Amino acid sequence: MSSFERIPMADLQAASQPIEEARGLPNGVYNDPTFLAEERDRVFANTWAGIGFAGDLPQPGYVKPVTFMGLPLVIMRDKEDQIRVFHNVCSHRGMIVINDAGPVTGSVRCPYHSWTYELNGNLKGTPHLGGVGVHSVDSFKCEKHGMKEIRSAVWFDVVFINLDGQAPTFADYIAPLTARWQQFVGTDGYDLMRREADSGSVMLDVACNWKLAVENYCESYHLPWVHPGLNSYSRIQDHYHIMFGDFAGQGTMVYNLSETAGTSLPTFPDWPAEKTKEAEYITVFPNVLLGIQADHTFAIVLEPVANNRTLEHLRIMYVGDEAMTDAYKPHRDATLESWKIVFAEDVGVVEGMQAGRVSPGFTGGVFSPVLDNPTHHFNKWVADKLIASAQ
Ligand code: FES
Ligand SMILES: [Fe+2]
Repeated sequence: MSSFERIPMADLQAASQPIEEARGLPNGVYNDPTFLAEERDRVFANTWAGIGFAGDLPQPGYVKPVTFMGLPLVIMRDKEDQIRVFHNVCSHRGMIVINDAGPVTGSVRCPYHSWTYELNGNLKGTPHLGGVGVHSVDSFKCEKHGMKEIRSAVWFDVVFINLDGQAPTFADYIAPLTARWQQFVGTDGYDLMRREADSGSVMLDVACNWKLAVENYCESYHLPWVHPGLNSYSRIQDHYHIMFGDFAGQGTMVYNLSETAGTSLPTFPDWPAEKTKEAEYITVFPNVLLGIQADHTFAIVLEPVANNRTLEHLRIMYVGDEAMTDAYKPHRDATLESWKIVFAEDVGVVEGMQAGRVSPGFTGGVFSPVLDNPTHHFNKWVADKLIASAQ
């Protein structure tokens, strides 16, 4: 019996009910070490999942290997600046092709028998394929044996993949969110987002299932007790729920821009003056957490490593070239520091929820019908995908 078959269908259906009657997802989907592979194929593969950041490949001719839920992949930026994602496996005997991130001159080379691939995945060189000194064979068509590409897209600096190639286009997938955020950044504000090359990234190694990180990100109910500092100016009642389609999260009406020495960071030109204290925190299901404020944004890609371990990769971005000058370094540092405090405060609760899910005294839990709506929206989304995958 697979770990998926061990999850009672009735428990998934219970998570899919309206919030007043719903139970949370059952313990097995957080606890079973083998369930992650089921989730990869049933929840992640048929939609768009985040695997990394385009800005981590800073120049044309650059590669970065990543592991995505057990699968070896590689992100490659070719000479024309195009980002692509491939299975990081040689077409010859299945060796891992690329082990280290870094710049590449020319092509990439498999370390085993030295086959070479262009950065668009095309197989280019097959040394001694036809015997010593004979590098090609008529019957062997290089064009059939390139690295296997995965459908990918880049947005908000996040590299997204659709593993099974069957999802709607990424543009269609993300359109409801860009429509919502039109009010803040217009259509081309995203082009102004800038990253620091040598800072502005954080990684948290958290002992929880990836879904608990999403669930916690979706709600503001925990603010008074987990984030007392944040809650002193941004209280529960200053927040509102966000949930639609493949997205859920929260917004605040009272975000304070980081002010240092009487100045603040440059803001998005289209961001309305009366909304500078508004900010939104939205999960792009399944695993990309976004934050947008008038003067900076951040993206967190959740990397599910095991059922009870998630790496949270954060990149923070500011608005326009001027924001990246030395004059604004104190503002950038203060902004990042304030987020580091908030994210560190969340670690204890997501790890505590993971620990609680081994208890037979807990069977999915219940929801506040008023304050847990986005969390329930996500539980329902996962439950519905799992249910659909069984049919
Ligand atoms: S396995 Fe890659 S060249 Fe042989
Ligand atoms: Fe939190």
